[in-house]
Amino acid sequence: MQTNFRGRDFIGDLDFSKEEVETVLDVAWDLKRKRALGEPHPLLRDKTLAMLFFFTSTRTRGSFEAGMAQLGGHAAFIDSQTTQISHGDTAKEIGEIFGRYFDGISIRQCDWNFGNQYINEVARASRVPVLNMQCDVYHPFQCLADLMTIIEKKGRDLRRKKVVVSWAYAASYSKPISVPQSLILQMTRFGCDVVLAHPPEFKLMPDIMQQAQENARKYRMGFEVTDDMDAAFRDADVVYPKSWGPLLTTTGKEEGKSLIEKYRSWITDARRMALAKEDAIYMHCLPADRGLEVTDEVIDGPHSVVYDEAENRLHAQKAVMALTMS
Ligand code: CP
Repeated sequence: MQTNFRGRDFIGDLDFSKEEVETVLDVAWDLKRKRALGEPHPLLRDKTLAMLFFFTSTRTRGSFEAGMAQLGGHAAFIDSQTTQISHGDTAKEIGEIFGRYFDGISIRQCDWNFGNQYINEVARASRVPVLNMQCDVYHPFQCLADLMTIIEKKGRDLRRKKVVVSWAYAASYSKPISVPQSLILQMTRFGCDVVLAHPPEFKLMPDIMQQAQENARKYRMGFEVTDDMDAAFRDADVVYPKSWGPLLTTTGKEEGKSLIEKYRSWITDARRMALAKEDAIYMHCLPADRGLEVTDEVIDGPHSVVYDEAENRLHAQKAVMALTMS
């Protein structure tokens, strides 16, 4: 168990070592148990968190805000559009100034080739921990909740469990690549065999792929890449199919849309789900494009763990806030 978290940022998945992530999960389960028992746990009494959003959210906003209240503190929701950022407040000024008002700063900034850089710039100027609520590269709190959920459903020993991170078709918008990137970075440290499936135009960032490969080598895990969704699903223990944009191929809106349209067949339906193991779980960070990414039958069916997964956002985030902001 590691204990040195106070004052630290959590921006990329690998900012915390494997052992530190294990500590975070232990604390998360303790806080989950306390909440289930109705046992107060005001570990951050009188502390405040700035939640700066440049992008919409349901789960992230709700779980950070509820989490701070349950820890005895307060979270301030700050929509970037209602700030003076568009009139000149720089990342340095946000870090310097919010760092003096608040005990932590959390940020969602998903703009391609900008979000991660922005969050790091705020962090460099901030005297308090900066927490990444999703950027263009990582969604680390989602992935902590995902790992927590997988362990709850499949046990702590994930050796030889096949975890499939797959692209899926969606029409709503070109979604960030941060979730699959965080998943391949974190899951390759935790014993499972990771299979990444996507059409050729939907590659992830080369340095993220390289880090995932290095993790897999270091921890002696499997890490394979395929463009065959059916083959990926075969005998899987965990399937995590979600859409992301072809950002490494094109940032053009129309070109991106026509690339996405080529792969309408990448849906998780009952036929595909049946390729996985009988006790396989279906995961999705949500929101999902129902009827396009996944059928109602699957997302509302017996394999789906999406609501437990969404709940675990709360517990995992409370653990990190309590450890870093106390
Ligand atoms: N999964 C997730 O981050 O959900 P929101 O976009 O609703 O916060």
